[in-house]
Parts: sequence; C-alpha cells; structure tokens
Amino acid sequence: MISKYLLIFSLVKQFLEKAVLTPDVALASHVKTEVPRTMVTRNPNMEKLKKGYLFPEISIKREAHQKKYPDAKIISLGIGDTTEPIPSIIASAMAESLRKVIAEKVYPNMGIKDSDVFISDGAQCDIARLQMLFGPNVTIAVQDPTFPVRHSPLFTGRTQIDPASSSCSILIPMGWSPPAGDLQGYVDNGVIVGQTGAADDSGRYAGIAYMRCAPENDFFPDLSRVPRTDVIFFCSPNNPTGHMASPAQLRELVDFARRNGSIIVFDSAYAWYVSEGKPRSIYEVPGAREVAIEISSFSKFAGFTGVRLGWAVVPSELRYADGHPVARDFDRIVCTCFNGASSVAQAGGLASLATEEGRDAVRRVVGVYKENARVLVDTFASLGKEVYGGVDSPYVWVRFPGRRSWDVFAEILDKMHVITVPGSGFGPGGEGFVRVSAFNSKDRVLEAAARLSKFLA
Ligand SMILES: Cc1ncc(COP(=O)(O)O)c(C=O)c1O
Repeated sequence: MISKYLLIFSLVKQFLEKAVLTPDVALASHVKTEVPRTMVTRNPNMEKLKKGYLFPEISIKREAHQKKYPDAKIISLGIGDTTEPIPSIIASAMAESLRKVIAEKVYPNMGIKDSDVFISDGAQCDIARLQMLFGPNVTIAVQDPTFPVRHSPLFTGRTQIDPASSSCSILIPMGWSPPAGDLQGYVDNGVIVGQTGAADDSGRYAGIAYMRCAPENDFFPDLSRVPRTDVIFFCSPNNPTGHMASPAQLRELVDFARRNGSIIVFDSAYAWYVSEGKPRSIYEVPGAREVAIEISSFSKFAGFTGVRLGWAVVPSELRYADGHPVARDFDRIVCTCFNGASSVAQAGGLASLATEEGRDAVRRVVGVYKENARVLVDTFASLGKEVYGGVDSPYVWVRFPGRRSWDVFAEILDKMHVITVPGSGFGPGGEGFVRVSAFNSKDRVLEAAARLSKFLA
C-alpha cells in the first residue's frame, strides 16, 4: 500500500517538476533582461498552442487542494496510468533519478542541471522532436557527409539482426544501416517540417547549408565560408567519418554560433568512444550552454539499440531571440508527443551510469568495439588504403580514390561477402568512401579482416 502512495507521489512530483518549476525559470528570465539570447526566432506555431497541459494542470490543482485540506485522503481516478508497484529489483535501481545521474556523471563540472536533461527513447527520436520544435521557418546547416536514418523498422537494433545466431555466411556489421541514399537524420526531419526546398540531382536540398567535412579540411568545415543559419547540426565523434572534433575545433564551432546567434545541436551518441582526456561534450567549451543543445544515446555504449533510451540536454541558459527559454518549448513538445521512456529502460540506464561497476561494464563493451575498430584500421592501413576514424569512434572511413562508393561496396560484398556502407549514402561528400562498422563480434571482425586482406591486397 505504502509503495502505491510512493508511486503516486513520484508521479505527481514528476509532473510538478515539469509543470511548475519550468515556468518559474521562465518568469525569472523575463525579469532579468541581460540574459544572452540567440537570434533564432521562436516557432510561431508554439505560441498558438493553448496554455497549460491537462495533466500537469490537474497536478497543480491537486497540490493546491491538498494544501487547503491537509487531512484529506485524495483518491486519484484521474491519470490513466498503472498503480501496481514496480518490482523491487527494478525500483531499487531507479531510486536515483536518471536525469540527476546523467547531469552528475556525464556532465561533471559543466554547469548542466538535472532539469536541463530530458530523458528520451533515443537520439533519433529527439532529432525529430527538435525539428518539430524549431518548425518550418529556421535555416539549418549539416555536415556533409552526415548520419542517415534507418529506413525500415526491420533494421532498428540488435534485437532484429543478430549475426552471431545467424547461419548466413555474409558478415553484417551491427551498425549497418540499409544504404538509404539520401535518408539523413537531421536533413529528412527538416524536409518533413518544411525547412527546405526540393532536392537537386545530387540529393542536396535547397535552403540547407552543407558543411563539407573531408580529410582535406581535417573533417571540419571552413566556417568562414559557411553562411549563418539558425541551427547547426554537428556530430562528434562523427557518423560516418569516425572523426572526433578537436578541442580547438569545438571552440571554433561555439564561437561561430555565438557570433551568429545560432543554436548548435550537438550529437554525442558516440561520446563513450572518445579516449580519456579528449572532449566528450560540447559543454566542455565555455559559453556553450547559451548556444547548444546536446543529444545523446545509450544505444552505442550500453547496447540499447533495441531497448531505446537516450537524452537531450537543453540548458536553461539557451533562449530564443525574444528571450523565451528553448527548454520550456521543448518540454511542451516532449509532453505532447512522447509518453516517457519505459521504466525498464530507465532502470537499465541507471544501472549502467550510476555506479562505478556499471560504468566499468559499459567501458568494457566499448573496449571490445574499439579493439575491433583498431583491427579494421590496421587492416586497411596495411593494405595501403587511406583510412580515417576508428580511434575515438566505432566507425572506420576508407577512401577508394577514383572509384564510386557503390562499386566498392559491391566488390567487397561480391568477393568477400562482407557488407560495408557506401559513403555516398551519407551525402554527396561521402562519394569515394565506404564506412566500415566495428559493431560485430571480435571473431567475425577478425574473419572479415582476413578476407579483406586476401582480396584487397
Ligand atoms: C550520430 C547518431 N545519432 C543518433 C543515432 C540514433 O541513436 P538512437 O539509437 O539513440 O536513436 C545514431 C544511430 O546510428 C547515430 O549514428
């Protein structure tokens, strides 16, 4: 019985955190006029939404009612949520709030508060929600090449593809996305909400600034030639190139956004692959909280591709041009189109981050893939290929000068029964490259390396 009340209490507390605390922050912002602002115009459609949200509103009324009648034993027949207690083994893992653990363990000394962290069902879904938040009137910049979305639910995570249990003789790296041509995470969501014009023959959409990231520019765009955009999507360590932006590059990016009044959406899905001592978060750069959102995921370090858990950090310091806190609108979007990450997934997330034991366990998993990546890098390097990434990333990016990505892909598949991903699938800037993923068992990667050595020699 007591646990029922605890559950109800925690639900109400969650609602109050969302519904009551955030407006206070907003109120404070209008008093303090010196708060720095970006130049991004708030999506006008957000203004049209009716104020409040049914259930948080009820929570507020309930709290007021309880204050008025402190002895009343309120019975809630309001929320359509379950009341049976979560099994104790899970509940104990969830005792600490995941938001708090993420703020403390992933962003130590970076000024990120629990309330800045939004738990989600994965970074891909957060990208869609962020694009819905920004709406049709913003301009965006993306890296070229850039990370693709998967185009079939059949391929969403290891629950569907398990090469270890397959008798198939083709080696399918776990991170394989069906070569989707121009299906790109940040871009396609932008197209759907109406931020762009039509695509040209090369697959580039009118209205998007494509920031070329190639070996020739150390995979970092020449920002003096990048036009101002409202939003800059930036992924590091990068999918597909495997490049990790240096501290100097990240500083340059933050300075650029500050000068232009832009918002960076920093995708750190592969941050756990970054070696000790190198930057893992955009918030390691001073001044980033006023211009950057960070999205991240449990998929790639805790093996949660099929479990679905991630987070977005939207710092309270980040404001629209009119001073409105971006987090407040994002909260509204999240409440409107997402009913929360599953408790089981959150318990798993807590178990992997809250304790040193959990963090060691995920470091070991990451270590397996990093070792695989090293084997792949060494294999291509020993074959005289130009190879990038694979050090702070599970992806290895290999250049085949003068050849089309799809031809190389076909040859490697035909002769070696190994699937890679044609670089051109990540955008025109990926032509001439293939991406090789380290997400597979050590044995299979060693076998793939042996086949590659035999046929590419
Ligand atoms: C750069 C990048 N961001 C986000 C995602 C999606 O992550 P999630 O599984 O959390 O949706 C991926 C998945 O491949 C990715 O490569």
